[in-house]
Amino acid sequence: MRITLSVIKADIGGYVGHSESHPEVMAKADECLAKAKGDGLLIDYYITKCGDDVQLIMTHQRGVDNEEVHKMCWDTFVEGTEVARKLGLYGAGQDLLADAFSGNVRGMGPGCAEMEFEERPAEPVIVFMADKTSAGAWNLPLYKMFADPFNTIGLVIAPNMHNGFIFEVHDVKGHKKISFNTPEEIYDMLVLLGAPSHYMVKAVYHRDTGDIAAVSSTERLSLIAGRYVGKDDPVCIVRSQGIFPAVGEVLEPFATPTLVEGWMRGSHHGPLMPTSIPDSTPTRFDGPPRVTAAGFQLQDGKLVGPRDMFADKSYDNARQKALDIADYMRQHGPFEPHRLPLDEMEYTTMPGVMKKLEGRFTDL
Ligand code: 13P
Ligand code: 13P
Ligand code: MG
Ligand code: MG
Repeated sequence: MRITLSVIKADIGGYVGHSESHPEVMAKADECLAKAKGDGLLIDYYITKCGDDVQLIMTHQRGVDNEEVHKMCWDTFVEGTEVARKLGLYGAGQDLLADAFSGNVRGMGPGCAEMEFEERPAEPVIVFMADKTSAGAWNLPLYKMFADPFNTIGLVIAPNMHNGFIFEVHDVKGHKKISFNTPEEIYDMLVLLGAPSHYMVKAVYHRDTGDIAAVSSTERLSLIAGRYVGKDDPVCIVRSQGIFPAVGEVLEPFATPTLVEGWMRGSHHGPLMPTSIPDSTPTRFDGPPRVTAAGFQLQDGKLVGPRDMFADKSYDNARQKALDIADYMRQHGPFEPHRLPLDEMEYTTMPGVMKKLEGRFTDL
C-alpha cells in the first residue's frame, strides 16, 4: 500500500510567551483533522506539540505537496489562530506569513516534511520535532544516523545497509540542490553540512533500493519574511529497521546535546536537549532548544502510537549534560559564540544599529 506521511507544523500562538502550545488550540486542530479524516482526505492523523509549535502528523494517499491536504492544514492553522487570538496567546498566527493560501504551504511559513513510500509489513517511523532552533539542526544527527559507523553499527555489519545512503543537500540561500553518495563522498559533503544555516539535508535515500529513508523541513522563516519572526523549529521524519537504521541507531545521535542556533530571540547557540513531549516547554531563557521524538508503527496507513521515545530514562544523562552546557553558554551573555555571529543576525536589530552608527565611523 502506497502511503504519504506528512508532518506540517506552525507556531500559531504561544502559552505563556513562547513556552508551550495551548490545549484549546490543539483541540481546535484535532476538530479540523477529525473532519478531514471523516471526509476521506486523511487515513489517520495525530496532533501533538513541541513547545509553542503545533504539529499535524498525517497519513493519506495523495502524495507529497498535495493541494487539498496543504489547504486543509493552512485552514486548520487559521482556525487555531482564531482560538489563540481569543485566548490572547503570544504571537497568535506567528508563522502564517501569507495573507491567503495559494497552492502549497511551502514558503508561506509553516514547516513541512513529507514522504511517500510503499508501506512495509512492519513500518516503524520516528517523527522528530524541535523548538527554539533552526532548520539545519538535523544535519549532524542525520549524518550520524546514515553515515557514521560509530553511531550506526548497521552500516558495518548489516549487509542490506553496507553500501550506504544518498544525501540530498539543499543550499537554502542559493536555491540549489546536490546529492552525495556516502560513504565515499563524506569529506566533500561535510564541508557543506558543517554550515547548517546555509546547507541542509533535505532527504536521505537507500543506495541499493532508492527508497526514501528520511526527510526534513528546510523552510527558513527569516528568509521568507526578510526579518526575524520566530525560529523555524523544524521537523524530520525517519523510517527505521530493515534496510534502514534500527530505532536505537536513529535515536542515538541525540544522546549528545550538540550546539544549535536558536534559543532566546532566535539569536543564540545552545544545546539541543532531548525531552519527552510533555517536557518540551522551553522556559529558561526561552530554552534551551528542545527535540522530541514520536515513534509510530504504520499499519495500512494507520498511525499506531505514538511512543514518546525521549521519555526514556536512558536520555537522562543527555538532559543533564544539556543543562550543564546551558549554564556554561549563558555565562557568555551577549558575546559570541553564545550569541550568533553578525552575519546570522542580519534579520535582527543589527542592520538598524549599523545604520545609526554609520556616520560615526572614521577611518583608522
Ligand atoms: P517582543 O519584542 O514582541 O516581546 O518579542 C520578543 C520575543 O518574543 C523574542 O522571544
Ligand atoms: P519561537 O520561534 O519558538 O516562537 O521562539 C521565538 C523566540 O524568539 C524565543 O525567544
Ligand atoms: Mg513562538
Ligand atoms: Mg517555536
